[in-house]
Amino acid sequence: MALTPDVIRLIDESVLCWLATSSASGQPSVSPKEVFTPYNGDSIVIANIASPGSARNIRENPKACVSFINVFTQRGYQVSGDAMMLHQGDDEYPEIHRSLYVISGDDFPFKSAFRVMANDIKPIIAPRYRLFPQTTEQDQIESAMRTYGVQPRSS
Ligand SMILES: Cc1cc2nc3c(=O)[nH]c(=O)nc-3n(C[C@H](O)[C@H](O)[C@H](O)COP(=O)(O)O)c2cc1C
Repeated sequence: MALTPDVIRLIDESVLCWLATSSASGQPSVSPKEVFTPYNGDSIVIANIASPGSARNIRENPKACVSFINVFTQRGYQVSGDAMMLHQGDDEYPEIHRSLYVISGDDFPFKSAFRVMANDIKPIIAPRYRLFPQTTEQDQIESAMRTYGVQPRSS
């Protein structure tokens, strides 16, 4: 299924995603990934820099889920579907590598990538938006900044 413009925007606003996979026996595993981006309008690609466990799981069991939030607006998405690994030599790999290299630069080299096809997309929002429907994104940003003890950059 297609990633909506809002999903794509939230991917771009999120510093980290969490990739959930599970082994053939169903043992779940989740780990953070910073080098990820939307791809082809229907999937998320992630650089395999240091993720042998995720790679093994995806080889055994393609079901995967990626979640991400903008830590300030505290909104994001959970995108799940079948995942595959792409390597040097695969048709689409050069384009996928190019789009991830924009984020990784030379410091974090990688020779393969995960592609999670979006079969299901669910929004993630902080409970405050539902419990207090008058909450605006600006309220949530200010609340998150207090929680994290950070301030906006002065321009
Ligand atoms: C902030 C942060 C960002 C990370 N980004 C990535 C990444 O983009 N790609 C990657 O392969 N590993 C990344 N890692 C490392 C993996 O999460 C880590 O090696 C993890 O143990 C891999 O577990 P797995 O093999 O079960 O996936 C990152 C770790 C942290 C803490």
